[in-house]
Amino acid sequence: MTMAFIPPYPPRPAKPVATWRGFFGERARTSVYGWSERAFEIDYLKRDILGFKVHILLDPDLIEHVLLGQAANYVKPDIVKTLLDPIIGRGLLTSDGALWRDQRKIVAASFSPGAVEAQRAMFVRAAREAMERWSEGRQDMAAEATRTTMTVIALALFGGDPRLISESSMAHIAAAIEGFSEARMLALLRLPQFPVTPKGRAGKRGQIFLRRTLAEVVDDRWHGRVARDFLTGVIEALRHRFPDEEARALAIDNAATFYLAGHETTANAISWTLFLLAAQPELQEELAVEARAALAGGADDIAERVERLRLFVQESMRLYPPVPRFDRQAIADDRIGEHEVAAGDIVSIWPWMLHRHRKYWRDPDAFDIDRFAGKGDRHRFQYLPFGGGPRTCVGAQFATAEALTILATWLAEWRFVEAGHDVRPAGMVTLRPAGGLPLRLERRTFG
Ligand code: HEM
Repeated sequence: MTMAFIPPYPPRPAKPVATWRGFFGERARTSVYGWSERAFEIDYLKRDILGFKVHILLDPDLIEHVLLGQAANYVKPDIVKTLLDPIIGRGLLTSDGALWRDQRKIVAASFSPGAVEAQRAMFVRAAREAMERWSEGRQDMAAEATRTTMTVIALALFGGDPRLISESSMAHIAAAIEGFSEARMLALLRLPQFPVTPKGRAGKRGQIFLRRTLAEVVDDRWHGRVARDFLTGVIEALRHRFPDEEARALAIDNAATFYLAGHETTANAISWTLFLLAAQPELQEELAVEARAALAGGADDIAERVERLRLFVQESMRLYPPVPRFDRQAIADDRIGEHEVAAGDIVSIWPWMLHRHRKYWRDPDAFDIDRFAGKGDRHRFQYLPFGGGPRTCVGAQFATAEALTILATWLAEWRFVEAGHDVRPAGMVTLRPAGGLPLRLERRTFG
């Protein structure tokens, strides 16, 4: 029997960590840092963070109550909306009630199984284009994953608009995401959003660049200056329902929402999978053979023919959920299990803790490709890489087909080997490998 592989995770102090520590050092920059062993054993935790009462739910039944049973009582928190407002405004991710329902209806058809199927050949093309850039040797695969998913989202939703695939877009977006920890701190302290550090200022510049670029992209479609695409459809539906000024603002908000939510997360899922493949060379060889066979069957339904790779990606997203936490705010008083929740309280859902919880997973920190084989006896709210209930990720099927197709296309031709880089998770909103993911690439030769 081989030894279980335990991929790296942040140190876990034996005792709970004081809340104020969250404002300093790594804990202020990386949301999954500083959680004690206890957080992976208990059902519920309560915290007071600068006047915010936060209920952290670590029991799938309690989570189901919030995300499904009483979903109408739990909305996106004001603080999250304030934080994200300069970037994604009141788009699908950050709206509630009727405005949310209208927007979800507008985009739903574009993410149906049929619509995702229509994108399959494009996933392959984007994956192949990336490989044309590569040569043997060291390569930052986190940056490659980001370039590729950015290309995919630009092609799928924005007619391949070159402004959304440029190197400067990539740099500005990275800066906007980096600047997020400072913005969060200012929001928690209820201070105006005037960043003080160089990172914070670069983040602000990144946001402004992004909004300006997307406003141009929207206006081109508004005035019919470019061929029809997903965004054109969204603009038309919004103009149907709202006065022009509001429709234009919402179109820019949704362009930003889909551009950002649609590529960063998938890039992280791909990066973590490549890291785990490089760390387990034997499994990687097995999956490369599977990928090769799937590709030989034609480019059409690769994602359906890589069953082992699918299990591998599911396990990757358990250990490194690209969205490690998300939150709600109670509209009215409620009781969650035995816990009293007052109107205005924050309820926090943490895939990071839930996915590694001792009660729900055997050997929770170990990688096990067979964990998701068969039906299993999992609670449907214990594995939440894409969230759950009515606000579940609208792009889940798209992202899964995309990630599997890209990974299979790459694996069939290249071997990914560890390059001595110390990999650890980082990030406040999404979970990515700190400092990128340098791997050594070797061209595969099949006999
Ligand atoms: C592996 C990749 C992805 C992961 C892990 C992921 C994760 C999530 C999660 C956890 C949520 C729910 C947040 C909450 O309940 O507060 C969400 C929502 C959302 N995601 Fe994704 N996502 C991924 C890919 C995508 C893609 C490819 C798109 C679009 C092309 C997308 C667009 C959205 C949108 C618009 C929402 C908001 C839905 C709503 O509130 O109705 N995501 N995602």
